[in-house]
Amino acid sequence: MHRKTVYVGMSADLIHPGHLNIVRRAAELGEVTIGLLTDEAIASYKRLPHMTYDQRKMVIENIKGVSKVVPQTTLDYVPNLRRYRPDFVVHGDDWREGVQKKARESVIETLREWGGQLVEVPYTKGISSTRLNRAVQEIGTTPDVRRTKLRRLIKTKPLVRLLESHSGLTGLSVENVSFESESGRREFDGIWASSLTESAGKGKPDIEAVDITSRMNTLNDILEVTTKPIVFDADTGGRPEHFQFTVRTLERLGASAVVIEDKVGLKRNSLFGDEVPQTQDSIENFVAKIHAGKTAQITEDFMIVARIESLILNKGIEDALDRASAYIEAGADGILIHSRKAAPDEVFAFCERYLRLPSQVPLFAVPTSYDEVLDDDLAKGGIDVVIYANHLIRAAYPAMVEVATDILRYGKSSQSKSRLMPIRDVIELIPGGN
Ligand code: SPV
Ligand code: MG
Repeated sequence: MHRKTVYVGMSADLIHPGHLNIVRRAAELGEVTIGLLTDEAIASYKRLPHMTYDQRKMVIENIKGVSKVVPQTTLDYVPNLRRYRPDFVVHGDDWREGVQKKARESVIETLREWGGQLVEVPYTKGISSTRLNRAVQEIGTTPDVRRTKLRRLIKTKPLVRLLESHSGLTGLSVENVSFESESGRREFDGIWASSLTESAGKGKPDIEAVDITSRMNTLNDILEVTTKPIVFDADTGGRPEHFQFTVRTLERLGASAVVIEDKVGLKRNSLFGDEVPQTQDSIENFVAKIHAGKTAQITEDFMIVARIESLILNKGIEDALDRASAYIEAGADGILIHSRKAAPDEVFAFCERYLRLPSQVPLFAVPTSYDEVLDDDLAKGGIDVVIYANHLIRAAYPAMVEVATDILRYGKSSQSKSRLMPIRDVIELIPGGN
């Protein structure tokens, strides 16, 4: 008699009894093929898995009752179902609502084409991947695990979104804020350790006046309460000999990347452009700095991103492209193209030419001044990583000043209550505080 075939789609990242119940039920029905979601498929609707595809495959193929593991490259089951034409699909019944609801409906419809059947296993109480993920997040991460995350994200997601952080509390915001969109849960993928907002947070100008020891202390505050990858803004990187120490320290702490900008002398914030004296470094000197950093680097995961200031300083796209080629040749693992125009045109024009260069690395952009552009459109234009560089401090400061002024105006604080977080929520916001 022909043995029935059963298809089970899963991420199998943190295996728990719920998964085993599903596999057991599937094995009762026939020969089990696991459609293991690839990192890309998982990242399209939730966080990147803790384990890579190969690691997850090794675990699931050794589970009793599993005959075969095949990749499922999209959240949509249909392509694999048409290919394998299983008699049954087995899934937990928790996908009737939420982001997977549509996938469920198309499974039922597709199975009908050859008389296949969907079998749903009741949700296993008391355990779920969401709960385990939360527990893992509370435990934290290690430098080695965190450091690898940025390269993995760039490889798996069409666009990586970073938001600035300059303290533990802002780090927690980047870590925890999410939005349920129709296509799944949206979160920031990582943290931008901004020189501007950290300096501003300390009441200092953005001129490399906050020394590197102080920067590393702030970075530590952020690292302590987050698990997402961190891109560190190292301004000009200083002297090549000093930059080597910065690279090593960042790697040791678990940062995923450092960005250095091609300026020399007294560094001013790029958004001033040519309104203040700012000098771009020579290609030769900056290449030597990149090279010094790459020589110092110990791990394979860490990235040195070269930031090009040609557009900021009105040197034009040709100059920016020449620099991109030279920096890539020197070993840069990423290019950040900065612009302070109100429209994204020059960034898109750069991207178009950049994509024709013989050798390319991931491209970063900072849409602070051209803030109307959709980040998805930047991704379509060729940007891999988008940095929201200063938005938390810009949100917080006006709110603080407004409340402070009103306390003086009214001689009490109750009028501001609707704009204030209840004290209890502040306490509960911080893990371990209650
Ligand atoms: C920062 O956030 O510190 C940056 C980006 O370097 S910008 O302020 O636009 O120069
Ligand atoms: Mg900066």
